[in-house]
Amino acid sequence: MLLALLLLPWAWGAQAASAPVPTASVTLRLLHINVFHNARSMDMWGMALLGDLETHSMNCSTCEIRFLQPWAQQGLTPKQWQDLELLIHRSLFSFSRTVNTIAQQQGKGYPIVIQGSLGCELHPNGTSRGFYDIGVNGEDFISFDAVAGKWVARQGDKLALYARDLLNQDKAAAMTLQFLLRTSVNQLESFVQHGKESLERQERPVAVVFARVPPPAGTPAPVLLVCRVTGFYPRPVHVAWLQDGEEVAPGGWLNSSGILPNADLTYQLRSSLAVGPGAGHSYACRVQHSSLGGRSLLIPWEQSRPWGPGLVVGITLGVVAVAAVAVVLWRSRRKGYQDVRPGESSP
Ligand SMILES: *[C@@H]1O[C@H](CO)[C@@H](O)[C@H](O)[C@H]1NC(C)=O
Ligand SMILES: *[C@@H]1O[C@H](CO)[C@@H](O)[C@H](O)[C@H]1NC(C)=O
Ligand SMILES: *[C@@H]1O[C@H](CO)[C@@H](O)[C@H](O)[C@H]1NC(C)=O
Repeated sequence: MLLALLLLPWAWGAQAASAPVPTASVTLRLLHINVFHNARSMDMWGMALLGDLETHSMNCSTCEIRFLQPWAQQGLTPKQWQDLELLIHRSLFSFSRTVNTIAQQQGKGYPIVIQGSLGCELHPNGTSRGFYDIGVNGEDFISFDAVAGKWVARQGDKLALYARDLLNQDKAAAMTLQFLLRTSVNQLESFVQHGKESLERQERPVAVVFARVPPPAGTPAPVLLVCRVTGFYPRPVHVAWLQDGEEVAPGGWLNSSGILPNADLTYQLRSSLAVGPGAGHSYACRVQHSSLGGRSLLIPWEQSRPWGPGLVVGITLGVVAVAAVAVVLWRSRRKGYQDVRPGESSP
């Protein structure tokens, strides 16, 4: 596949100083989306991701690469970046031609949306894996087996089989792609080194516990306790419910939203626990995260306080803030009076 050319600069990255193997798996991923409106009109844009960090983006109305991290331009010289833009622009033309040929020969109607994900992942044990997966119109289509150096169909329909056979005919291109996916791990290591600070960013979670539907007084209905944890980075987090100090085992009473992204590249999660009425147990939500330095957050559910601890803390902070502002105002007024010299009138 001609898009294999996109990977060439990754091989240049082989010059980069060898970096230590990261302590967790890390992935370098190039995503591209090609929308074929018809045989004559196609849009393409793409982005590069290091782990969950967007590092580069590109819109092929110009094919200019944009750097989304302060360190994203390091690793290649300006000339190499320029060559890459040119290369993508040129290979795009042949890529379109290939797709249009396949579409016409197989009677595939437009629009056609192609999504590609290629790159490599590096594991803490020092092994790495290259990948290139292609989807068409939202479904898995074909993948490159980087070990065997062959394309494999991801579905049984004749279009995927046809594309697979066509691509596998070009053995030289497959070997180039295999080589480039293997060497791209050098570029990954180089990025990991340049982006170390961003990758190792630590944001502490903020957690609150509240009852989803506070039951009216006296009704023996189960209560849904919710623990909302947000603002943490990196992604891995462990949230558990404690009943009388014991971790609640997974089961029907527990439910979790899973880890969801926030707009500011932090994450959030909600974990809920259905609690039987009037059982007289104590409950707490426990949050463990790398930013907490080995300690954990423990947020008790306090049934006796209808507002919950979060609100109490909030109100206390609010009162303190108002008091602080009052003191500052009072002081500045006093100072203002003192500044008035005898004989002058205050404004
Ligand atoms: C790419 O650029 C074109 C022209 O400036 C614009 O119309 C289009 O919305 C852009 N696409 C994306 C995904 O940013
Ligand atoms: C290295 O780690 C990866 C991911 O944890 C695993 O899939 C792979 O089998 C490991 N390889 C070896 C040789 O231990
Ligand atoms: C778990 O929560 C989701 C929404 O967060 C909800 O759609 C689902 O029904 C819940 N499952 C159970 C078993 O309560």
